[in-house]
Amino acid sequence: MTPIRIGLLGIGTIGSGTYEVLNRNLDEITRRVGRPLVITRVADLDLDLAKQVTNGDVELTNDAHTVTRDPDIDIVIELIGGYTIARDLVLDAIANGKHVVTANKALLAMHGNEIFSAAHEKHVMVAFEAAVGGGIPIIKALREGLVANRIEWIAAIINGTTNFILSEMRDRGIDFQTALDEAQEKGYAEADPTFDIEGVDAAHKLALMAAMAFGIPIHFDKVHTEGITTIEQADIRYAERLGYRLKLLAITRKRAEGVELRVHPTLVPEGRLIANVEGVMNAVLVEADAVGSTLYYGAGAGSHPTASAVIADLVDVARLITADPGERVPHLAFQPDQLSDTPILLMDDVETSYYLRMRLADQPGVLADVTKILGDQGVSISAALQVEPSEQESAADFVVITDTTTERAIRTAIASIEGLSSSFAEVIWLRMERLS
Ligand code: HSE
Repeated sequence: MTPIRIGLLGIGTIGSGTYEVLNRNLDEITRRVGRPLVITRVADLDLDLAKQVTNGDVELTNDAHTVTRDPDIDIVIELIGGYTIARDLVLDAIANGKHVVTANKALLAMHGNEIFSAAHEKHVMVAFEAAVGGGIPIIKALREGLVANRIEWIAAIINGTTNFILSEMRDRGIDFQTALDEAQEKGYAEADPTFDIEGVDAAHKLALMAAMAFGIPIHFDKVHTEGITTIEQADIRYAERLGYRLKLLAITRKRAEGVELRVHPTLVPEGRLIANVEGVMNAVLVEADAVGSTLYYGAGAGSHPTASAVIADLVDVARLITADPGERVPHLAFQPDQLSDTPILLMDDVETSYYLRMRLADQPGVLADVTKILGDQGVSISAALQVEPSEQESAADFVVITDTTTERAIRTAIASIEGLSSSFAEVIWLRMERLS
């Protein structure tokens, strides 16, 4: 049995996990593949670390290009991260006829269209199961398991850091900054936590899933992206009183007019399974026409869970290496010449429900003004809650949940409410998904 020879670029958290799990389970994996998978070369700038992880059992280098150009390497694993050096190395590996496995969601969200097209021309594979949802086999599900279906929508918790922060804020009543500090101490956040808390990491992953779900190119630049930095305790509590939990959801939905692509804090009915995904765990809920709802849950990050996905890709590539390139599973699920130019919808055209928190004068007729403004925009109220003001207060919180409406209508209504002399503060508003 000729071994498959692998070059590993980057032996940090995921790289060392991949090295450890592959060696620990090598017998079992070889029985499954029929050929041993052997990491023969490792490139990392930190050679001491590389030596420590590998016990000096493989050839080490600090020049990654010697790996991408090594004629003896069959598969290159890119675990460096970022999108500058990683892009050069991945394109170089492809140009040299190597198959590539990567966990790099940022790279694929930004440059995936170029990378997949280069791979298609060179008849090599770029596998990326670890790029979305860590250890959860969601790429496999979207590209293969659900292939019989028309996918209707996906709603996903695909950033563990923000889910941890929102869970801690709800459970312990702590504020955003305290919860973020804890997430960083525990090592959950990306090197630059802005990508987590501003929703960018989730947007990277959503752009990839939408491409596979709907047969469209990767449109990272068109994802409407909002993070969780402005979330206040009051809204988590009011949402809870009304029967909802607040989650950072990545949502994509195919409508007749186009595709919705959006990441934002979202109220979800507390009875839904996805509302109960807590801490750093990830979950992806897919609604498809034949199978209905399916939910994929698991560890979205971490050394060994992510290594599980990287090694699954190695096995896939090893199994498919001899197949006719035209018969392989397409990178983005649909054949490259069959991608459609379905428009991505503007946020104003998105249709969903909304949570509004208003600070209103405690005087007659104020609620009538607010409900008239909403009614004039065709917005129907589904639930409302007014908190009785204390004796010292002259204003009260009034919280409303709407039926489905357009973002255009709700923005217009909010502007009018804020213009009322009886409105004392900006309206806090959040989107809500019933996911039914
Ligand atoms: N920072 C990411 C998260 C790690 O919090 O989920 C995996 O992409």
